[in-house]
Amino acid sequence: MYNINVEILKKILNCSIALEEKLSKVYLSLAKKVSELSAKVLLEIIAFESEKHALILREIANLLNLALQSIDCREFLGALYIDLERVEYELHKKESLGLEELAKLLESLIIIENFAGEETYHKLLLPLIKDFISRDYFITMLIDKIVSDEKFHEKAIESIIHFSKTGTS
Ligand SMILES: [Fe+2]
Ligand SMILES: [Fe+2]
Repeated sequence: MYNINVEILKKILNCSIALEEKLSKVYLSLAKKVSELSAKVLLEIIAFESEKHALILREIANLLNLALQSIDCREFLGALYIDLERVEYELHKKESLGLEELAKLLESLIIIENFAGEETYHKLLLPLIKDFISRDYFITMLIDKIVSDEKFHEKAIESIIHFSKTGTS
């Protein structure tokens, strides 16, 4: 079955991988620049999980036999991708981050986390995959795993923002 949906499926997979990889780098860089130890650990965990998500999505593309060619995700994802690039740029300029600056950057990231969670993976990606294949190949299970991690990411980031603003966890 080859139709317009396959092209969309490839684009979503491609740019979700790009987004997860970029997010992973941003969280690692945040973790390095923040002095508060417990926030640092949470940020590192989110970075590792984002990298893992990119890997899972790559494996899914392999299972589906989809060759992913590189595309312009800035154009495909629009504001979301540009926002992430802005956070990357802001971070690049800083040697270290105070709690107030950290909270500000995390507030931008939480919007991206929100989008790259249930909305994209469950409501957009999974139906397209199910259209494309006759057998599940445990793909639903893998996507569920990503979505449940994303819920943790949102919660963890909200907690760090709360801590940054109030000094209490
Ligand atoms: Fe993720
Ligand atoms: Fe995430």
